[in-house]
Amino acid sequence: MSDINHGDEGVQACGTERQDETAGVDSVAISTPDIPAEGEVRGAVVFFSSASENTARFIRNCHLEHEGINVYRIPLHRRGGSLNIREPYILVVPTYGGGSPDKAVPTQVRLFLNDRANRNGIRGVIASGNTNFGEAFCMAGDLVSKKCKVPFLYYFELMGTKEDEEKVRKGVPEFFANIKKQQQA
Ligand SMILES: Cc1cc2nc3c(=O)[nH]c(=O)nc-3n(C[C@H](O)[C@H](O)[C@H](O)COP(=O)(O)O)c2cc1C
Repeated sequence: MSDINHGDEGVQACGTERQDETAGVDSVAISTPDIPAEGEVRGAVVFFSSASENTARFIRNCHLEHEGINVYRIPLHRRGGSLNIREPYILVVPTYGGGSPDKAVPTQVRLFLNDRANRNGIRGVIASGNTNFGEAFCMAGDLVSKKCKVPFLYYFELMGTKEDEEKVRKGVPEFFANIKKQQQA
């Protein structure tokens, strides 16, 4: 598995430009970030977190907004509305399903990615899980990576450690800076 701090291969693998297939026919309301980037926008993170809020806590502690990263949350309930993202992002997803690949990616995340315009923006995935699940630890990352053909950048357990927070806080803007560099080359 590639890591945001030493996954050069992964970082390069995602420098592909994508066509905005929805250009000109997109009439949905584009979502505003739950935590907007401070200063110049350098990239975005989209995350899901269930009622246990582990991933939400991790994301809050990363303070990605200080690094110019827009942070969006996929709503837990339908009444939270739908999320419509039209900028490149890294998906942060907790694993569910207890080892069943069909259920490893939370339904809310699957629905979000089923929307082609949302799927167009994904550039990489970070997954979380619990090592108690053995082989299925962070399985959602492998599945999203394969399905969306983007690199699996990093994984962490539960709400992550201080070290995880630092790596992600540093690694996410670096990842987007690399994409920009490759596009300009
Ligand atoms: C019903 C259930 C199934 C889970 N299945 C897995 C699993 O298959 N693999 C894994 O790594 N973690 C699994 N987990 C652990 C969650 O990924 C972990 O608790 C995560 O931090 C939850 O994030 P959230 O609180 O943001 O939703 C499972 C947790 C629950 C409650």
